[in-house]
Amino acid sequence: MNCVYLLSHKCLNYNNLNLFSNQQVHAQSASTTQEDSLKMNWFADAKLGIFIHAGIYAVNGVTESWSFHNKDIAYPDYMKQLNGFTLNQYKPVEWANLIAQTGAKYAVVTTKHHDGVATYDTKMNDLSIVKASPAKKDLIEPLFAELRKRNIKCGAYFSLIDWSDNNYPGFLKDSSRYAIAKDTARWEKFQHFFQGQIQELSTKFNPDLFWFDGDWEHSAAEWQTSKVRQGILTKNKNAIINGRLQGFGDYETPEQNFPVTRPKAKYWEMCMTLNDNWGYQAKDTHWKTPYEVITIFTDVISNGGNLLFDIGPKADGTFPKEVHQTLKELGDWNKRNGEAVFNTLGGIGQGHFYGPSTLSKDSSTLYLFIQGHINGAVSLKGLRNKIKSISVVHNKQPLKYKIVGKISWSAIPGIVYINVPENLNDKYVTVLKLQLDGPISMYKGTGGL
Ligand code: GLC
Repeated sequence: MNCVYLLSHKCLNYNNLNLFSNQQVHAQSASTTQEDSLKMNWFADAKLGIFIHAGIYAVNGVTESWSFHNKDIAYPDYMKQLNGFTLNQYKPVEWANLIAQTGAKYAVVTTKHHDGVATYDTKMNDLSIVKASPAKKDLIEPLFAELRKRNIKCGAYFSLIDWSDNNYPGFLKDSSRYAIAKDTARWEKFQHFFQGQIQELSTKFNPDLFWFDGDWEHSAAEWQTSKVRQGILTKNKNAIINGRLQGFGDYETPEQNFPVTRPKAKYWEMCMTLNDNWGYQAKDTHWKTPYEVITIFTDVISNGGNLLFDIGPKADGTFPKEVHQTLKELGDWNKRNGEAVFNTLGGIGQGHFYGPSTLSKDSSTLYLFIQGHINGAVSLKGLRNKIKSISVVHNKQPLKYKIVGKISWSAIPGIVYINVPENLNDKYVTVLKLQLDGPISMYKGTGGL
């Protein structure tokens, strides 16, 4: 097994889903028609999405699905968590408000994880929180309704893998039920089942975005991914599909690990958790601080991507206080600095400024994000444009600057030193706004004459 994907709880075979592999590039090119790039517009402008892993794994606080697959807990004990999944404090209005206050433009919610437990009222089997848990309600329907009232796009996370379904070949990490080649009829039954669930999601909720997961267990031909894609687009030609569909998605989804160089994909989204787990686990207190979240977020948008930021609700439908606190800080920072974040383009690339940056759509405004507090000058190399003004975004205060090392007879730009006094710093990340005389032009040479 070629193990290129390693987290503490799992080691997956990513042979068939190399991030940025040829197949993925193919999927990207499938999205280059005018219509396809139009449908991606809101996604490219969105920058921030909130990911919600809601499921029975929150009852005991075990890892979603992987805990029984990897035999950390026996399957029957894992499934007993159904009995504790009450959602008795679930308030979709509050969830939608929590998401909205961050400034996020979309949310992605688990409709079914690899454990096979649907969080909506599926008619394809009885394994849902509606039929098999005391919650007895559809989690998705009222949440999507509330999100849409707030103009937040709705994404459905759906696991192709279903380790609970008897017709699915895989089960525990070292045991499978059957081999597809030996029993194609059984696999066809599973196909009918999971494709039926995807149709249900399309019909019931008309998601703006489908977020598939688990495609690595089978090939594109086995999953019939082209049929999955076609089925979704027939219902809603504007639906966006993430890249975990064996080459039939619209964008890449690097997970948890931050790309150091800018991903080649035109559209990409990093999904990352607020602590170390996707779902709620009381024992996991390794929360990222607001400063860490904001610096990660600005690094993502600087590189042209979106952040899909994950939180996990408890079994009663409430979120831990750390979730509320950090999302509020993130949202407040976005309110102060949103003009540098939403509806922008990725920034000027490495080497010019030692920090993230973004550009206005017409690229005549450059935003520089300063990590950490500063009392002094930051520098910017290679700017060919004339500067009209420089100011701090959150308080609109003008800043003084000086151009150093500009030789009159050389075409190579000097270095801009911008002075940022301590009292003008943002609580977390200070953003500078440089208004230029026109679309940005950067010198990228090696110096000299
Ligand atoms: C992984 C995991 C899963 C998690 C997902 C989110 O692929 O299998 O547990 O839901 O990533 O990106």
